[in-house]
Amino acid sequence: MSIEHLAETALAMVAPGKGIIAIDESNTTIKKRFDGVGIDCSEENRRAYRELLLTTPNLGDYISGAILYDETIRQATKDGTPFTQVMAANGVIPGIKVDKGPQPLAGFPGEVVTEGLDGLRARLEEYYRLGARFAKWRAVINIGDDIPTGTAIEANSHALARYAALCQEQGLVPMVEPEVIMDGSHDIDMCYEVTEVVLRSLFGSLYEHNVMLEGTILKASMVIPGTTSGENASVEEVAAMTLRCLRATVPASLPGIVFLSGGQSDHDATAHLNAMNMAGPHPWPLSFSYGRAMQSAALKLWSQDMQANYAGAQQTVFARARDNGLAALGQWQPGS
Ligand code: 13P
Repeated sequence: MSIEHLAETALAMVAPGKGIIAIDESNTTIKKRFDGVGIDCSEENRRAYRELLLTTPNLGDYISGAILYDETIRQATKDGTPFTQVMAANGVIPGIKVDKGPQPLAGFPGEVVTEGLDGLRARLEEYYRLGARFAKWRAVINIGDDIPTGTAIEANSHALARYAALCQEQGLVPMVEPEVIMDGSHDIDMCYEVTEVVLRSLFGSLYEHNVMLEGTILKASMVIPGTTSGENASVEEVAAMTLRCLRATVPASLPGIVFLSGGQSDHDATAHLNAMNMAGPHPWPLSFSYGRAMQSAALKLWSQDMQANYAGAQQTVFARARDNGLAALGQWQPGS
């Protein structure tokens, strides 16, 4: 696949004022989300919920792409239209989660490494045929006493680089996601330090594996205090620290950076993105690839009455897309 082709997809993913909706929860993760609001995690409910999200009227106004799960990319609306076809009609690029999740890293208590490289080439080939044009792989970096270790960081960077090279070989844009987890009592400076080391390691590995940055998207976590640190960082501080960290580590040739929400409230996720874009221009577009911060309100509403609240839940998805789309331009007004 030519680099021009990959670069074109990557640029479309971060088109001005647009971002990604992550709906690629594994069946285990979506069960947790459904349990939280009292919905039975049946295949039909998972399908119906993803249909609600993907058929949100005018979703494509603010959404450039959606990340799907293996089950979801094979599903269709109730009337039989494949989800990928619905997306194409709305100008939403299909993406696919291809990692198989984090597993404990042997010999390193508290640390994990993401699995899923075995057989990946064949899976990517199939996903391309099914319509996917980008793929996501999430590495998980935990902060705690004496962790992360260099070994865990390198193991995860190596896996990300091998996945990214395979994606490009098969014509898919890799969205590389090294998530520094918010849980923990660490302060914002520790989060900065870890994120900086992780990103340096990642871009070193991508270089070693001949990954073309022009056809790659970074999905980053923000630099933020640990959830149990008791520290309250202002929106401006999170924005400034995150920007400093990205500028120190991410090559300017990368077409774009999108953020995960990672457990931040809807408001915080939008406010942080907006503040970063107000402080621009930057070497790359900064946008969003939120899961929870795009869906939580809609899921809650839908769970209360699947029929009566259907349209209302879709309006909530649209409102979150619009708010985050505006934040990707630095034009969001709180309460608008
Ligand atoms: P959250 O925005 O809920 O963190 O999900 C984004 C994602 O895709 C994590 O891999």
